[in-house]
Amino acid sequence: MKVQLSDFGRKFSARSGIYELMEDLGRALSEGGKIMMGGGNPAHIPEVEAVWRRRLNEILAKPGAMETMLGDYDTPRGRPDFLETLASFFNRQCGWNITADNIAVTIGSQAANFLLFNMLAGRSHGSEGANREMARTILFPLVPEYIGYCDQGVSPGMFRAWKPEVEFLSNHDFKYRMQFGKLDEDVAALCLSRPTNPSANLVTDEEIARLVALARARGIYLIIDHAYGQPFPNVVFKKVQPVWDECVIHAFSLSKLGLPTTRTGIVVASPEIIERIGIMNASLVLATSTIGQAIIQPLLASDEITQMCERCVRPFYKHRSDQTRAWIAECFDDSLDYHVHVCEGAFFFWLWLRGMRINDRELYERLKARGVLIVPGSYFFPGLNEPWEHKQQCIRVTYCAEPSAVRRGIEILAEEIKRAYEK
Ligand SMILES: Cc1ncc(COP(=O)(O)O)c(C=O)c1O
Repeated sequence: MKVQLSDFGRKFSARSGIYELMEDLGRALSEGGKIMMGGGNPAHIPEVEAVWRRRLNEILAKPGAMETMLGDYDTPRGRPDFLETLASFFNRQCGWNITADNIAVTIGSQAANFLLFNMLAGRSHGSEGANREMARTILFPLVPEYIGYCDQGVSPGMFRAWKPEVEFLSNHDFKYRMQFGKLDEDVAALCLSRPTNPSANLVTDEEIARLVALARARGIYLIIDHAYGQPFPNVVFKKVQPVWDECVIHAFSLSKLGLPTTRTGIVVASPEIIERIGIMNASLVLATSTIGQAIIQPLLASDEITQMCERCVRPFYKHRSDQTRAWIAECFDDSLDYHVHVCEGAFFFWLWLRGMRINDRELYERLKARGVLIVPGSYFFPGLNEPWEHKQQCIRVTYCAEPSAVRRGIEILAEEIKRAYEK
């Protein structure tokens, strides 16, 4: 029998880039034998895993702690005492002045993005009572941007983007700069990841200040996705300041800290947005997962989490990033017209292979045939519908696997890229 699908069903059960990426990732991890330079799985950092082990032992040892963690539903916004601890943590660490009413927990920050995008954008009749139907949009002020956003819009055509400027820093290094474009009347929110997945670009404090001013002047929101950012996991290689403003919606995650399976996302925003997230959570999942909250709550209360990020997490990724960049320089043919985005944070290298004779998808297939998984770049341009050959000339490479595997992956990549430039 053929399934009769709704528009929603057709859209959300069709194959998507993020589905294929997560399938490839899950399969490669369970089967082994592949060099995994594709997904965003965090590395296994022994010092960090020792903290999780200690916390689980503490939970087991404390009477009633395990029982409530596994056996009691939380409120749809999270555990009330966790929200209190988190509000104090943000106030101490970021100099904010928020309360528990500014925070909601979600089932991963992927779900937070879905709820936020579709709460703010899509078909709308304007404010209560008005009857002026319009399709509101989410604008990505700098693409390439996170692949996981691409298929999240319930309404068709929900995303727009500004095309970036490319700044060449040296022969083989470049950086995207935000090119402030038109802000159409239909834009409901701006959204960016900081640092950016996939390019590892860190949008500057000045660019953020301009976006906040734009959002405030227009009465719209700026969503900042800190999946790799401050204050945790703090995989940020340049100092920046997370800002608080009524028009800013912050999304955080425990995943890249090393707890992806606890599915814990955190939204910090105005109380009205937060209350609506809680209500949506209740319909969708009743309550969120308690496990991540229970593991990290004392680490937030004592600020141990900040020290862990500064002493272990950030240096770990910084070292891996520097090492991988050096291997790229060593293995790639210097005469090729290739460019690497400066790595200012997150887990990735974004390569722009200008002048390559094949496109990003073909390169992906060739690499997959040789046991190396990367992600084709053309998936990372949500909302940028105009043709731009740059979109087919980039790939994203993750450097979280074991160093020997990354080194071998870079060697194979160098061989295949050389072949891809040959006439
Ligand atoms: C930029 C960005 N945002 C959000 C997410 C979603 O992460 P999670 O749902 O595990 O919190 C990811 C995951 O890779 C990401 O890279």
